[in-house]
Parts: sequence; C-alpha cells; structure tokens
Amino acid sequence: MLKKKEKYTVAVVGATGAVGNEMIMTLEQRDFPVEKLRLFASERSEGKTLEYKGSQVKVESLTPDSFKGIDIALFSAGGSRSAEWAPVAAKSGCVVVDNSSQWRMDPEVPLVVPEVNPHDLKWHKGIIANPNCSTIQMVVVLKPIHDAAKIKRVVVTTFQSVSGTGKKAMDELMEQTRDILSFKEPQCNVYPHQIAFNILPHIDVFLEDGYTKEELKMVNETKKILGDDSVKVTATTVRVPVFRCHSESLNIETEKKLTANETRAVLSEAPGIVIYDAPEKNIYPMPVDVTDKDDTYVGRVREDDTIENGINMWIVADNLRKGAALNAVQIAEKLVEMAE
Ligand SMILES: NC(=O)c1ccc[n+]([C@@H]2O[C@H](COP(=O)([O-])OP(=O)(O)OC[C@H]3O[C@@H](n4cnc5c(N)ncnc54)[C@H](OP(=O)(O)O)[C@@H]3O)[C@@H](O)[C@H]2O)c1
Repeated sequence: MLKKKEKYTVAVVGATGAVGNEMIMTLEQRDFPVEKLRLFASERSEGKTLEYKGSQVKVESLTPDSFKGIDIALFSAGGSRSAEWAPVAAKSGCVVVDNSSQWRMDPEVPLVVPEVNPHDLKWHKGIIANPNCSTIQMVVVLKPIHDAAKIKRVVVTTFQSVSGTGKKAMDELMEQTRDILSFKEPQCNVYPHQIAFNILPHIDVFLEDGYTKEELKMVNETKKILGDDSVKVTATTVRVPVFRCHSESLNIETEKKLTANETRAVLSEAPGIVIYDAPEKNIYPMPVDVTDKDDTYVGRVREDDTIENGINMWIVADNLRKGAALNAVQIAEKLVEMAE
C-alpha cells in the first residue's frame, strides 16, 4: 500500500515514448502531487532531458537500485521491460502501474479502469495493470449499460490509430504519406503493409484460431474488469491511418430492453463519458475532435431491431490519454486517495 504523504516521488519508465511523453504531460496538467520526477528509458536515451513544469529532467537508464526511494512508477516501456523491472520496483516498495500487457491477466494483479472497478485497487500486491487502450474506452461505456440492463454479448470492431503502436509508427505514417504524395515508394518498417491511405485488419500477432492477440485482449480483459465472465465479446481489430484516437463500432445485446434514449440517459450520468450524438446536425464523435480529450465520446446510438434487446453505437477516445497515460495517472490519483 502507498504510504500517505503530501507529495510523492514518481517515476515514468519509458519516458521518451509516445505514452511516456503523455504521462509526463498528464502529471503536470492534473497537478499530481509530485515531490520529485524521475524519468527512465533505454540506454540510447541516457542523458537526454525532458521538460516537466518548466524544468529539464534528465533521462536515466534502469539499474537494480533505480527504484529506491520511488513511491509510484508508471511503466510504459514494453512487456519485456515490465516483466523484468516491475517486480524489482515492487520489491523496492514502490507501487507500479504498468501499461504493457505483461501482467494484465495475472490473477494476482488487478486490472483497473478507475470509472469501472476502482475497488480492485484494494488487493494489489505492488503491481497494478492498465488495460489495453481499445478495452479501456469500451468498458467505460459497457459498465453503466451492464449495471442498467445486464450485457449478454458485445460485437466490437475497432478503428485504431497508429499511435497505439508507438512513436515509430507515427513517424512511419508521416513518412509514407509524404513519400506517396511525392511519387516515391513508401517504406514499410513497422507494419507488414503500407499504412498510409490503407487499412490493416491486423493488430498484434495472429493466433491459431485466426483471431489476433489484440482481439483476445479485448475479450479477456473486459471480463476481468467487469468482474463477469458471462459477458460474451467478439472483436475485430483494425489499424487505420489516423495519428491519435481509437474509434469503435459497438453492437451490444442486453438482457433487459434499453431504448436509444434510455441508453443515452444511462451513459450521460456515468463518469468519463460525453454524449456527442446529433446526427441531424452531423454531430458524432471523430478522432480530430476527441484528440487530447479525457472522456470517451459516444454517438450514433440506435436500436438494433434484428435482435430483441440490442443497441448500436460509435465511440471514440484518445488512446494516448484515456487509453494509456490518463488511465494510469487516474489510478495513481486513486492510490493517493486510498493511501494511509
Ligand atoms: N501507444 C498506446 O496507445 C498504448 C496504449 C496502452 C498501452 N501501451 C503500452 O505502453 C508501452 C509503450 O508504448 P509506446 O506506444 O509509448 O511505445 P514507444 O513510443 O515505442 O516507447 C517505448 C519506450 O520504451 C523505452 N524503452 C525501450 N527499451 C527500453 C529498455 N531496455 N529499458 C528502458 N526503457 C526502454 C523507450 O526508450 P528509448 O526512447 O530510449 O528507446 C521508450 O521510452 C507498450 O508496452 C505498449 O503496449 C501503449
């Protein structure tokens, strides 16, 4: 458990990456009670500096002693780094909030979205997992509907931005776009195919059954966060040439009937959601409007009359904020509230 203090020593591991950068900004914007900020990345970045509240903070590389004196560590340096270093950090007495998929399905590790299951923070043993970006925004919306009408099944198709893959993928989309518009052959290094002016129905690796690991994450993580194995989820995850924000088409089948108006009413009372739904005025959530926003935006709410109790909707959230950095910082804020 975190010991109550006025201010905390906070570490960001993976500070030079897409999520790490956003974490530093989010800590600053939300005025998290930081006594001292320590930044870590690979040896390649050692000695670089990054700005926090007008000061330059040096980037360090990790050593077994790095976590001494650190209260909270926000990890976003990839699964193998989390596998190696999160236990080291936890053993040093620091609470880890980990963004990788390494610990998410470990029964000893809570998987938390603060709007949905903050109570799970009570049983952490030093490591708390931040869910997958596409799962986070979906469960923010599913939770109030599940409470109101009990969800039986969800069919989700995602439209995920390249920042979900990290900084190199953002650079690749930029370079390919530039090359194609200059009649040059685009180079593919991050994805197996060109992403500029294209769509890839492929996120993470393919499994034997034909699904991808990203699709499986959405299925398993949703059940764990909602604490209900009976909710059936089937997913198709798709990469689109957008820099920021994941969009999702959701088809939700419930036990109890909810009309479109009742669904909007339930969602408008829930935390972390903005209803952005006036199709007669061409108002619906889009990545360009939701970039840098904290909430999950919901639009195109309509009844599915092909099943007894079904609702369709379109949701968009900023994957680097709610899908990663913000969710991690909100977990840290909850830990501070619970500190004794
Ligand atoms: N992007 C998203 O929307 C999103 C959402 C949820 C979760 N995540 C997860 O967050 C993690 C980071 O994602 P990202 O998108 O920020 O990736 P990224 O832009 O590629 O950044 C990776 C970070 O990890 C650091 N790193 C690499 N090797 C390291 C090592 N040996 N020791 C210490 N640090 C090392 C990098 O440092 P250098 O700059 O020195 O190489 C960089 O700071 C991944 O686990 C990802 O799955 C991402």
